[in-house]
Amino acid sequence: MDIVPFVDLAAHHAPVRDQIQAAVEKVLLHGKYILGPEVEAFEQGFATMVGAKHAIGVGTGLDALRLAFEAAGVKAGDEVIVPGNTFIATALAVSAIGAVPVLVDCDPVTYNIDPGLIRAVITKKTKAICPVHLYGQAADLDAVMAIAAEFGLKVIEDACQAHGTRYKGRGCGAIGDLGTFSFYPGKNLGGMGDGGMVTTNDDALAAAVRRIRSYGELKKYHHVEKGVNARLDTMQAAILNVKLPRLEWANTNRRRAARAYEKGLAGIAPIVVPQGPADELAHIYHLFVIRTPRRDELQHFLHEKGIQTGIHYPIPIHMQPAYAELASSGSRLPVTTKIAGEILSLPMFPELTDEQIARVCGAVAEFHRA
Ligand SMILES: Cc1ncc(COP(=O)(O)O)c(C=O)c1O
Repeated sequence: MDIVPFVDLAAHHAPVRDQIQAAVEKVLLHGKYILGPEVEAFEQGFATMVGAKHAIGVGTGLDALRLAFEAAGVKAGDEVIVPGNTFIATALAVSAIGAVPVLVDCDPVTYNIDPGLIRAVITKKTKAICPVHLYGQAADLDAVMAIAAEFGLKVIEDACQAHGTRYKGRGCGAIGDLGTFSFYPGKNLGGMGDGGMVTTNDDALAAAVRRIRSYGELKKYHHVEKGVNARLDTMQAAILNVKLPRLEWANTNRRRAARAYEKGLAGIAPIVVPQGPADELAHIYHLFVIRTPRRDELQHFLHEKGIQTGIHYPIPIHMQPAYAELASSGSRLPVTTKIAGEILSLPMFPELTDEQIARVCGAVAEFHRA
């Protein structure tokens, strides 16, 4: 049976395979395996793409978040507001520095943090807000930034799924105090291993992130704080330099696929199709997430038809054993809790063909006719 894959990285890399091999070979020969020219070039290219003054390459998206929180002055015991509906790494980064993630419910249409619920959880300990541009769609930054300004809070954008997303013409990751990105292989811009980036327009915050990622040193063997080793791998930077110029093409093609899904799935009750933003550049469709009350049955049916799907995410943070202490926040997270049982991510990647999309939509329709 012909499989419709969830993502097809081999197809994505095929046109640049020679360039990637040459870039890796170059690093192999020059021998600068830690940071070096590839990391610098990628930091510059990425900063330009986002429209931020600085970009600092780090080990992972989780590192990016953790370093951004530390640079922003979040300390043990402080509280950071994060969406209840996100990948667990957003909360783990807060916990990693001994601070406390405070979960806020999501909007039922965009699945992003509902800014109307933020004020109610602000306390004297609140230090920062971390909106996540989930699935690639810009969060309501105007509202978040206004609340942050009113209460003197820092804003750290989790743009780990939003490489190239624009919010009212500006790059996500360049609007809050700091932005954070992941280059996990399946991201719209992904490496062949782990990678991450912090972006900021603030010189002092950029310098702090650079220090913390390299043992808290100002220069070699001069340590002014207790940092970590969280540098972007040079081989990954070499690969990402080849891939960065194709990001816009990739995002445009994901939007094309999203429009085709919208058409193909229209009118299939009770499927809820994501309502794309009025400004199409505000979504890069890292994931195309539909909702249906019979999610598990539909996923099984599609699997039987050779169609791979995913769930992002099946168990919300407040229901994870790792966060038993947050279980009581479930009472203020009704939307997050409900949608976790209904969401289904359909195949989504730039090379997805019209035929593959038609097959997925046909199978979804067939399931509901049966
Ligand atoms: C929203 C979000 N935040 C944080 C991360 C963490 O990134 P990484 O996997 O590179 O640590 C990811 C991706 O995995 C993510 O999707």
